[in-house]
Formats: sequence, C-alpha cells, structure tokens
Amino acid sequence: MAVAIIELLVVSCLLMLTGCLGHFNKHSALFVFGDSLVDSGNNNYINTTTDFQANFWPYGISYFNPPSGRFSDGRLIHDFIAEYAGLPLIQTYLDPRNNEFVYGANFGSGGAGALVESHAGFVVDLKTQLKYFGDLEKRFRQNLGDAKTDQLLSNAVYLFSCGGNDYLTPVGNNDSILYPYTHEQYVGMVIGNLTDVFKGIYEKGGRKIGVFTVPPLACLPNIRAGRPGNTCNQELDIIAGLHNQQLSKKLEELEKQLEGFRYAKFDLYTEVSKRMKNPSRYGFKIGDRACCGSGPLRGIYSCGGKRGVQEFELCDDVDHYLFFDSFHPNEVASGQYAELFWNGGSNVTTPYNLKTLFQLNK
Ligand SMILES: *[C@@H]1O[C@H](CO)[C@@H](O)[C@H](O)[C@H]1NC(C)=O
Ligand SMILES: *[C@@H]1O[C@H](CO)[C@@H](O)[C@H](O)[C@H]1NC(C)=O
Ligand SMILES: *[C@@H]1O[C@H](CO)[C@@H](O)[C@H](O)[C@H]1NC(C)=O
Ligand SMILES: *[C@@H]1O[C@H](CO)[C@@H](O)[C@H](O)[C@H]1NC(C)=O
Repeated sequence: MAVAIIELLVVSCLLMLTGCLGHFNKHSALFVFGDSLVDSGNNNYINTTTDFQANFWPYGISYFNPPSGRFSDGRLIHDFIAEYAGLPLIQTYLDPRNNEFVYGANFGSGGAGALVESHAGFVVDLKTQLKYFGDLEKRFRQNLGDAKTDQLLSNAVYLFSCGGNDYLTPVGNNDSILYPYTHEQYVGMVIGNLTDVFKGIYEKGGRKIGVFTVPPLACLPNIRAGRPGNTCNQELDIIAGLHNQQLSKKLEELEKQLEGFRYAKFDLYTEVSKRMKNPSRYGFKIGDRACCGSGPLRGIYSCGGKRGVQEFELCDDVDHYLFFDSFHPNEVASGQYAELFWNGGSNVTTPYNLKTLFQLNK
C-alpha cells in the first residue's frame, strides 16, 4: 500500500514536471518594435506632443478604459498575436509600473521610423528601441542567468512594424529630404537601418523575426484629405512598393547569411488594400474614410480634439469603419490582420505563419 502511494506520487510528480516544462516551453516571449501600429503606450511616457499620443478619448473606446495610448479604438495586431500565443497582453516597456517582461516587452513608438531623422525628438526611434532591448537583455542575464536568457531570447518572436513614417512625412509633404536621393536609395537606407536592427537582435540571441510590409500609404484618408480632389498619392504607392520588394529580398538574404535566422513576413499591404476596395466582403461598411477625425474623409488627424484642431466627428458604428482615425485601423481590422498573420497560408505570410514561427526550434 505504502509502495503504491509512493509510486503514485512519483508518477504524478513526473506528470507535473512534464506538464510544467510543457507549459514553460509553450510560452515563447513576444518582443514588439516599431511605430504606431504596434505602440501600446510608450509615447505616454516621453516628452512629445499629442500628435504622437493617443491616450485620450475616444481612443480606446472599444476595449481600454482609461485609454492606453494605442492608436485605435481597441486592441492592435500584436495584442491579438499575444493572445494566440497564450501570452498575456505584452507589457509596455516605458510604463514605470512594469518591470518583469518575462513574456516579452513592447518598445513600439507612434511616429517612429527606421531612420533616426523621422520625427526626431518626438518619438523613440528604432535604434533606441534596440538599445532598450539590449538593456533588458542585460537584466535578464543578471536575474535569470545566461542559460535561461539564451533560451528565452532564442525562442522569442520579435515583431516589427516599421517604414511608414519614413515615407509618409517626406513624401506626403513633398519634403526636400527625399531629393538628394533617388527613391531606390532612400528606400535602401530605410531597409539598411531596419536590417541593422534585425542583426542587432540576432547578435543578442534572437532568431525569429515577424514583420509587416508597409500598408498602402498612398490612399490613407489622411493623405487623400490633404490633396486636391482627394486623390491618392501615387508617389507614395511607388515607394511603398519598393520598400516591400527590398524588404522581401533582404529577408531572404538574411536567412541565408545568418545561421538559424527565421522570419515570417505578413503582407499587410495587400490585406489593407483588399479591404479598402471591398469593405463589405470583410464585414466593414466603410473602407475609405475614417471613423474619427474631421474634414474630407474625416482625414484631418484631429480625433480627440487635442491636436490643435478641436472639432472632430466620431462615427456611430466604430466596428464598421476599416480606419478608426485617418491613419490607423480599427480593432476589428487589427483582429483580422492578426488572425491571418497567425494562421494564414503562404499567400499572406511567408515563408511561415506566426503560429509556426512561435513553435520552431523547440
Ligand atoms: C520637452 O520638450 C519641450 C519642447 O521640445 C522642451 O521645451 C522641454 O524642456 C522638454 N521637457 C523635458 C522635461 O525634457
Ligand atoms: C515636389 O517637389 C519637387 C521638388 O521641389 C517639385 O519639382 C515637384 O513639382 C513637387 N511635386 C508636387 C506634387 O508638388
Ligand atoms: C541609416 O540611416 C542613415 C540616415 O539616418 C544613413 O546615413 C545610413 O546610411 C543608413 N544605414 C544603412 C545601413 O543604410
Ligand atoms: C490564400 O489562398 C487560398 C487558396 O488558394 C484562398 O482560399 C485564400 O482565400 C487566400 N487567402 C488570402 C488571404 O488571400
């Protein structure tokens, strides 16, 4: 009898142990870098202007109360990804209430680009985001030791949304910053800087990169609102296309050059375009104008009334607008993009989807 109980205990301990290890293994961490499409509120904690913040009503109305600083009515793509991966909401790095980060960290900053010049002084640029990640890596090594840190960092997925801000401001405003360069050269600098950050993560032990293509910037409600006849800006479309081509090429090269480097590239450009052209097919009513803002297409970036223009309109049915404000998707759209990135086939996410990327090398 006593023996049987001991055996039972041994067996249940082993089960618990494997259960436990399985549990530990299941939770690859998620680190998030880039711009407003993935900023969970870092910009609430920097010295900037309300142009680069969204921590006021009606931002957040569908999910966060008080508003979190996300540039949307609700959750963003990476929030849904975290949920699919069995993780809690990923902590915002600059929020002083956070200090653990064992499930990952969010470094995203609205307005940031790959170039330090993009909105310099108002955002956390991508190089600084990488530096913060390096600080965190050192803390992991101190607190967890090298073996556990290496495991955490190599199993983790590093998600990027970057590039839009490098193009929107200079091209959208026909700014001279572009003119010393050809489009190819300028895009080459953006991709070059993005690649430097991918390599920086690899050097610290990261192996799995998830990245969005840039969305169709040319026809964003904000861009159209600023143009005669509210037309799209074809130059922005050309440059977005170049970015997405160079990004694909660079990722293929990195996979060959860097032992163990893996990536998943989500075709956000195509998915946003399809919904803008045919919103009703995806459950939206309006695909070309924003829910919140003012002026033509509610394209003036005044949602919340705190960015210089006080008057703004808010639509009645937030869920039916692909764009919440004149740049950013609503929560329903972000959920759809996340689902495709997580589960989609090779026509939307290449060469893997995130579900596979999270499970690799276990
Ligand atoms: C914040 O930025 C403004 C304008 O750029 C500047 O005048 C002010 O000194 C800065 N405040 C801090 C605390 O850095
Ligand atoms: C943009 O600026 C360039 C150089 O200053 C000028 O040649 C071109 O006409 C401008 N384009 C538009 C659409 O304003
Ligand atoms: C990164 O961007 C800077 C401008 O901020 C540029 O001078 C540099 O050449 C870029 N780096 C790469 C590798 O393209
Ligand atoms: C991907 O391809 C499959 C099969 O060809 C198709 O059913 C599906 O709609 C495509 N998905 C997207 C998002 O284009």
